[in-house]
Amino acid sequence: MAVLPLLLLIIIKHLTIFSYQFSSATDIITPSQPLADGSTLVSKDGSFELGFFNPPTSTKRYVGIWFHNIPHPTIVWVANRDNPILDNSSMLTINTHGNLVLLSQNKSVLWSANSTISTASSPNPIVQLLDSGNLVVRDENQSDPESFIWQSFDYPCDTFLAGMKLGWDLKKGIYRRLTAWRNWDDPSPGDFTCNVSFGSIPELFMWKGSSVYHRSGPWNGLRFSSAPILKQNQIFDIQFLNNQNEAYYTFTLKNKSLISTVVLNQTTFSRQRFVWFPENQAWSLYLSVPGDDCDAYNRCGPYGNCVVGQLPICQCLNGFVPKSPQNWDATNWTQGCVRSEPWQCGVKGRDGFKKFSGLKLPDATNSWANQSMTLEECKAKCLNNCSCMAYANLDIRGEGSGCAIWFGDLIDIRMVQSAGQDLYIRMAVSDTEKTMSTEMKDECEQEDMELPLFELDKIVNATKAFSTHNKLGEGGFGPVYRAWKLWKQGNPMKLIDASFEDSCTPSEVLRCIQIGLLCVQQHPNDRPNMASVVVMLSSENALSQPKEPGLLIDNFSMEGQSYGNEILSSSTNEITITLLEAR
Ligand SMILES: *[C@@H]1O[C@H](CO)[C@@H](O)[C@H](O)[C@H]1NC(C)=O
Ligand SMILES: *[C@@H]1O[C@H](CO)[C@@H](O)[C@H](O)[C@H]1NC(C)=O
Ligand SMILES: *[C@@H]1O[C@H](CO)[C@@H](O)[C@H](O)[C@H]1NC(C)=O
Ligand SMILES: *[C@@H]1O[C@H](CO)[C@@H](O)[C@H](O)[C@H]1NC(C)=O
Ligand SMILES: *[C@@H]1O[C@H](CO)[C@@H](O)[C@H](O)[C@H]1NC(C)=O
Ligand SMILES: *[C@@H]1O[C@H](CO)[C@@H](O)[C@H](O)[C@H]1NC(C)=O
Ligand SMILES: *[C@@H]1O[C@H](CO)[C@@H](O)[C@H](O)[C@H]1NC(C)=O
Ligand SMILES: *[C@@H]1O[C@H](CO)[C@@H](O)[C@H](O)[C@H]1NC(C)=O
Ligand SMILES: *[C@@H]1O[C@H](CO)[C@@H](O)[C@H](O)[C@H]1NC(C)=O
Ligand SMILES: *[C@@H]1O[C@H](CO)[C@@H](O)[C@H](O)[C@H]1NC(C)=O
Ligand SMILES: *[C@@H]1O[C@H](CO)[C@@H](O)[C@H](O)[C@H]1NC(C)=O
Ligand SMILES: *[C@@H]1O[C@H](CO)[C@@H](O)[C@H](O)[C@H]1NC(C)=O
Repeated sequence: MAVLPLLLLIIIKHLTIFSYQFSSATDIITPSQPLADGSTLVSKDGSFELGFFNPPTSTKRYVGIWFHNIPHPTIVWVANRDNPILDNSSMLTINTHGNLVLLSQNKSVLWSANSTISTASSPNPIVQLLDSGNLVVRDENQSDPESFIWQSFDYPCDTFLAGMKLGWDLKKGIYRRLTAWRNWDDPSPGDFTCNVSFGSIPELFMWKGSSVYHRSGPWNGLRFSSAPILKQNQIFDIQFLNNQNEAYYTFTLKNKSLISTVVLNQTTFSRQRFVWFPENQAWSLYLSVPGDDCDAYNRCGPYGNCVVGQLPICQCLNGFVPKSPQNWDATNWTQGCVRSEPWQCGVKGRDGFKKFSGLKLPDATNSWANQSMTLEECKAKCLNNCSCMAYANLDIRGEGSGCAIWFGDLIDIRMVQSAGQDLYIRMAVSDTEKTMSTEMKDECEQEDMELPLFELDKIVNATKAFSTHNKLGEGGFGPVYRAWKLWKQGNPMKLIDASFEDSCTPSEVLRCIQIGLLCVQQHPNDRPNMASVVVMLSSENALSQPKEPGLLIDNFSMEGQSYGNEILSSSTNEITITLLEAR
């Protein structure tokens, strides 16, 4: 008896395949074959569909593109955002001049793609929905993308798809940016936008109206300066191209069967990356920008450094003090910081650079760049111009290359956990600092690291050993010191038992170690509370850089000590293990 249903099922399945193959929607519109409301185009491989839709509670009709294979209606592009259709009798067509137009019942033009071309060069214009989700107007016999007459990818709405380019092309006179829907029920352009700035160091900006809302930081060859290092990313590759003619951001998918989009949303005021996992049949949020309090544009004013997890969140960069201590103490950071020592341009002994590490590079609106200069040439270039306030490598790959220099006050700086960059800021360099050569510094650090920590159990009276180095020593704190030591050496992975190494994600482990170290900071204000620890563990927000743990400094209070121990045991043991097991 069970055979019949099974047979039926097989037949039905075959019928569906057949009906799909035979009634297979077309992917083109020609002058003689327009698209009426009610019909759709489906791209060749069935990825995308174009047709007429109305938002959930609206009666206004729009021409849009959505994913064909995804049950949740996900509109990725809208043609007539500003010109909704009020009935169901319009049609999308292409006239013999190659113009893609939306016509009402009485043949008046409701929307036009302005794709007009000369009929001499393209006698047979057609419209085609490509598998990438790009709607193109091209000549029937011309499939070279460079020869497309018009393409929807040049006019993005709120959604950024794989293969799209966000940015500018001076030769073609095209400026592609994202504009959010006004709200979930209204695709007309909102005032929340995302674009790539002009200039020698283009960056990705998000705007609320005409105010900057977020800045990505310059592209450093691998990622934007403020972006976290993504955990083993098997989903997409991002690229940023920048030359004299064009600058754009784009991404490609590693596996065509996965889907990923970036959407600008005016309700959440964020730019979010979603990934569609076929197994779950659901979109999952992969990354959201802004991601934390320090992502707010220019949070701490000039020369202020925003550090997540610190209180107050704004700190003057080393060598700088609040411009207005009263305002600063009242948590009004707009005026930022000024040099603590007088600096005079070009005055020998009072003019030099101090290296800052782990930063999101400052706003590059007033900057200059050269892709082939070395860091030394870069420094010389900056020294030569009294408006130049800082320099850095443009590209951090390998040993680092290229030169970026900044003019005027440096703003929108923040700490970026484990992904930040080196920036050389111009300031008065005191004699003592100058005479201490790099080699000497290295030597000092080297010596510091020689502290006989691992060998504690073998040697010597631990308490005594520590106290000679002005460190509180007790066997129980050995692991903290070891963690700190390896962290400072840049080798924190050595903390992990070798048997774990293959089964754990380095970035997760690093994060746990960093959180563990933050939990045992000397200053109670530097230590996150348990609630923040939970958030830190479950998110990818930037963390502040730990300083030397308080447990190792003799003044660490008893209260802090027990707190430190409690957190340390829960974070480095239980929580880490949980994370490792969850994989
Ligand atoms: C147009 O068609 C859609 C879908 O068939 C329907 O929901 C909507 O009510 C129609 N609108 C008008 C104005 O007829
Ligand atoms: C044609 O229809 C549009 C909207 O459907 C309307 O605004 C316009 O006035 C009409 N034109 C004529 C000539 O009827
Ligand atoms: C096409 O050109 C007209 C007139 O210049 C303009 O109003 C309209 O916004 C343009 N349409 C698009 C889609 O750019
Ligand atoms: C375009 O290609 C079709 C078939 O490939 C061919 O029949 C036609 O002559 C071509 N048209 C032109 C203008 O080259
Ligand atoms: C923006 O995000 C909100 C909240 O997640 C969601 O309800 C809304 O549909 C989104 N808007 C658009 C246009 O996708
Ligand atoms: C980016 O968008 C903002 C807000 O609309 C605008 O003020 C700015 O000029 C745009 N940038 C460029 C380079 O066009
Ligand atoms: C791509 O993803 C699908 C579904 O997750 C998987 O079955 C397939 O093996 C993947 N292909 C490659 C080349 O990784
Ligand atoms: C912060 O300080 C600046 C400069 O004194 C002032 O203009 C601004 O109004 C202050 N902001 C707030 C929120 O008090
Ligand atoms: C960039 O620097 C290189 C090496 O110093 C130099 O040869 C080249 O002319 C510079 N390019 C520009 C545009 O300044
Ligand atoms: C310094 O740089 C600024 C900004 O690019 C420029 O306007 C100025 O001419 C430069 N001055 C010198 C002396 O090169
Ligand atoms: C280790 O040294 C400390 C400090 O000098 C001393 O108080 C303690 O008694 C010593 N412990 C042992 C086991 O010798
Ligand atoms: C330790 O305490 C003493 C006395 O209270 C103080 O002078 C010193 O600065 C403290 N050391 C540290 C590292 O906080």
